[in-house]
Amino acid sequence: MRISLPEAILAIQRGQVIAVPTETVYGLAASLLHETAIRDIFSLKGRPAANPLIIHVANLNQVKEYAQQLPPGFADLAQHFWPGPMTLVLPVYLEKVPSIVRSGLSTAGFRVPRHELALQLLSTVGPLVMPSANLSGRPSATTASHVEEDFGEDFPLLDGGSCQKGVESTILYYRDTEWVILRLGSFEPEVFQHVLGYQPRVIHADSSSNPLCPGQAFRHYAPRAKLLLGEATRLNEASFVLGFKERNYPKDKRLICMGSLNDPHKVAENLYGALRQLDQEGADLAWIDMDFPCHGLWMTIAERLQRAGND
Ligand code: TXA
Ligand code: MG
Repeated sequence: MRISLPEAILAIQRGQVIAVPTETVYGLAASLLHETAIRDIFSLKGRPAANPLIIHVANLNQVKEYAQQLPPGFADLAQHFWPGPMTLVLPVYLEKVPSIVRSGLSTAGFRVPRHELALQLLSTVGPLVMPSANLSGRPSATTASHVEEDFGEDFPLLDGGSCQKGVESTILYYRDTEWVILRLGSFEPEVFQHVLGYQPRVIHADSSSNPLCPGQAFRHYAPRAKLLLGEATRLNEASFVLGFKERNYPKDKRLICMGSLNDPHKVAENLYGALRQLDQEGADLAWIDMDFPCHGLWMTIAERLQRAGND
């Protein structure tokens, strides 16, 4: 059910969960003040309690209310990249951020989204927790109809069109003496170089029981179809191909095109829509063309596809 901004404001203030557009993906939003609504987010998504939520704020000053410590470089990062697809994980005052938001950690992720509707909502209702608006494990939602696919047409939804960036925010955390990337995202690692003076390293998800970014330990972004990731010898087995417009694939395959090899931004924008289309078309086995560069935004695209393909 599409709702207006004033209706969205009322719903949030009453402690309801609604879907909200951001520049990356749609989020399922609840007020930081309504713990019951936050609990509802976990049950609506089927999200493990061990996977913490990002707190979205209207501006960097709001972060200062919750963060117990602002690491070196925080102000530069915030000034350069907010509003925008960057999440900063910071140590917080435990009494100010409900434990359910942090999954019991002593830190929380913060982000100022770059989307007019989201910013108007945030500046009226205050901080919102917002995980991506998809059932846990499924591809994220980048259009209003993706949200409806997962939560039904009656779900209250602020329609902001399709998300420009298409992949989630890049998550950074200050560890020891440097910022590191916990989740690759819409901002390529390279962009932080000119602000920090170094390119933050990417910390890869490990299977240890205490990963730095708990979400990386869970299955994600997956369509129902089984995905074959780039092994040329297995192309024959699949009836669907997820690929690029410049390439020639066998004519008997149904091509779902992610875009052009010259335009990773557009590929990122189309990525979850393409994965969801496999389900809409009833695909059970799809071959993914993984033959693309391995730098910049392509790294994020590769990571999302790899995780979508992991059983
Ligand atoms: O672009 C985005 O970030 C979107 C939009 C809606 O803003 N949100 C999003 O939220 O991607 P979600 O819940 O789908 O992913 C949040 C990720 C998870 O992997 C979670 O584990 C990690 O952020 N995270 C949250 N709090 C954390 C913390 N305190 N320490 C480490 N990782 C954290
Ligand atoms: Mg998500």
